[in-house]
Amino acid sequence: MKDFIKEAKNILIGNRKEGYTLPTNSKLYPAQWNWDSGFIALGYSHFNLKFAFDEIKTLLRGQWKDGMIPHILFHDLNTNYYPNHSVWACGNKIHSSGITQPPVLAIILKKILDKNRIKDEEIKKIKNILNKVKKYHEWLINYRDPNYSGLVSILHPWESGYDNSPLWDDSMNEIKIEKKLKYKRGDNKVVNPNYRPLDIDYDRYVTIKNYLKKNKYNPKTLYHKSMFNVVDVGFNSIFLRANKDLLKLLKKFNLKYKKLQKYISHSENQITKLYNKKKNNFINLDLRNKKKIIIPSITNYFILFADIKDKKLNNKIIKNLKKYNSKEKFLFSSIKSSHSKFEEKRYWRGPVWINCNWIIYQGLKNKDKNFAKIIKKKTIDLVKKKGFHEYYSCKTGEAFGANNFSWTASLFLDLMLEEKYE
Ligand code: DGY
Repeated sequence: MKDFIKEAKNILIGNRKEGYTLPTNSKLYPAQWNWDSGFIALGYSHFNLKFAFDEIKTLLRGQWKDGMIPHILFHDLNTNYYPNHSVWACGNKIHSSGITQPPVLAIILKKILDKNRIKDEEIKKIKNILNKVKKYHEWLINYRDPNYSGLVSILHPWESGYDNSPLWDDSMNEIKIEKKLKYKRGDNKVVNPNYRPLDIDYDRYVTIKNYLKKNKYNPKTLYHKSMFNVVDVGFNSIFLRANKDLLKLLKKFNLKYKKLQKYISHSENQITKLYNKKKNNFINLDLRNKKKIIIPSITNYFILFADIKDKKLNNKIIKNLKKYNSKEKFLFSSIKSSHSKFEEKRYWRGPVWINCNWIIYQGLKNKDKNFAKIIKKKTIDLVKKKGFHEYYSCKTGEAFGANNFSWTASLFLDLMLEEKYE
């Protein structure tokens, strides 16, 4: 019988560089990505705690002075990727992008610290890590929610992690593409272009990026004048969960937590405002264009991961989730397959992503054990059947994008090995 656990570990080791890990060994992503790194650290924690902490410490070495943790750290100055370090032209100790990504780090840290005994001599190092993560969360609160609304904004679709999701179509249609825009994509030379975002998407990504750069990535002003300013349920659910996990860790390690605690109660109240009665689901808000975004995306169900206290609301969402993918063999499609914008093979416009399944699974574990078990089994079976890829068809399970994909390997390991601890 094939040893899938060994294979998953080998993928991580194979993608590992000095102190960090590439998302894949194909040439698609030649750098360190923020949320990939979090998931990757969790994978390592099942067999090499040192590598797990190396991954996290390297990511934190790229933290900006103001607290932001960038979405990409360019350790190697290879320029095949677009937009590479020379295009972003920013960073603190490490060249980086000028935007962030879903803040999963505190959640991952809590998982790792819960299952491992920390020696006395390591406490100082852990406190140091926690203070940096706290500074990152404060950055999100101060600059991405300057009006203290309880909800943070993303200023570029890349910040959501689900770049070309139909969630952003209407907002992106409003972007006026820069005149004489000149750039060369690298991604669609490595992966079949039919499985990647369109050129028009890239024109808009690059236009927004150039605008952020022109404004020196200044977080104080950009919230107010960015071309793209969206409140995403997925990002906010992850942030709320991350804040809750960080709070527990701050308490455990005797660090200050009062301000964070206050923000958590505020967000918990405010996030339910994203609930749409008519759709009986959570929706996103385009703040820039003052519009609701009503698209059936799996990321709207990340609210379950936020562990909000409203049981009745959680149950309604779970009931919906059970119908979301019922017609398809593999779960969960990133966009509901009956929706007009669904595309079976194109990146975040329909395919199944293992990190989404993992997030939903985590959100269900304490709410609907049986359903959670089904999701876990189906996710494991999909990976065993089709391999450790970037994304998959919800209809056939066919794999697309990069292979030897690190977060697929990591989260597979976590699903397979978690029982050892829980
Ligand atoms: C990419 O390059 O496709 C990434 O998703 C951007 O972060």
